[in-house]
Amino acid sequence: MASRRSAILVRRAEPRDAEGLHATFSTPQAQAGTLQMPLPSIELWRKRLSDVTATDYLLVAEVDGAVVGNLGLHAASTSPRRKHAASIGMSVHDDWHDRGVGSALMRAALDIADNWHNYLRLELTVYTDNAAALALYRKFGFVIEGTLEAYAFRDGRYVDAYTMARLRGAAPASSTSSTTKNTKKGPETHRKATKTARKRKAS
Ligand SMILES: CC(C)(COP(=O)(O)OP(=O)(O)OC[C@H]1O[C@@H](n2cnc3c(N)ncnc32)[C@H](O)[C@@H]1OP(=O)(O)O)[C@@H](O)C(=O)NCCC(=O)NCCS
Repeated sequence: MASRRSAILVRRAEPRDAEGLHATFSTPQAQAGTLQMPLPSIELWRKRLSDVTATDYLLVAEVDGAVVGNLGLHAASTSPRRKHAASIGMSVHDDWHDRGVGSALMRAALDIADNWHNYLRLELTVYTDNAAALALYRKFGFVIEGTLEAYAFRDGRYVDAYTMARLRGAAPASSTSSTTKNTKKGPETHRKATKTARKRKAS
């Protein structure tokens, strides 16, 4: 975790954060773990920040006034039939890994997703060799749903990615086989809720 003196503040990104995001994505691991390209342009980040819609959440983590990480929570699709799903992407500045910044960002995103946006399903992709990201996502209840082979090109070679998802709390009782699949590996709350739903159906 970050030292006691340096509290991690998570807030919504503002146009003035372009430089902070640019600094994070200028670090090698932040690039390697995402789909960002080397030599990012600061102008590109200014544009991205000005294009954020009301339903897109771009969060930043700040320590002592410096932006050290970011997380995007976006509607997964414009189809009304997928309005329960959102996707997540995140990155922490290389100098700040393994100090609790990723967890602080994820905690804030899950609060928005679960308690305010009412998203049921959160989705993400992660390279299969990204141990830090896998540890973080598993800690917050994401499970691997499959492997995407040669998902992206990174530093001269193709890399596989896992597709992961987290289903919040109780899934609707009418859900079918895909829900059953997730309950096997899903968070404890989801397992309990499905068990209760099964009992209700049986009685
Ligand atoms: C993945 C990433 C976001 C994690 O953020 P972070 O700030 O380092 O994460 P945290 O410090 O909150 O750690 C989260 C958990 O992962 C564990 N962890 C951290 N680094 C780890 C590593 N290299 N191997 C295994 N576990 C690790 C921590 O111990 C912690 O678990 P705990 O709370 O039970 O102790 C960050 O490493 C990163 O930005 N990497 C580069 C970009 C990237 O890969 N983004 C993800 C794209 S899918």
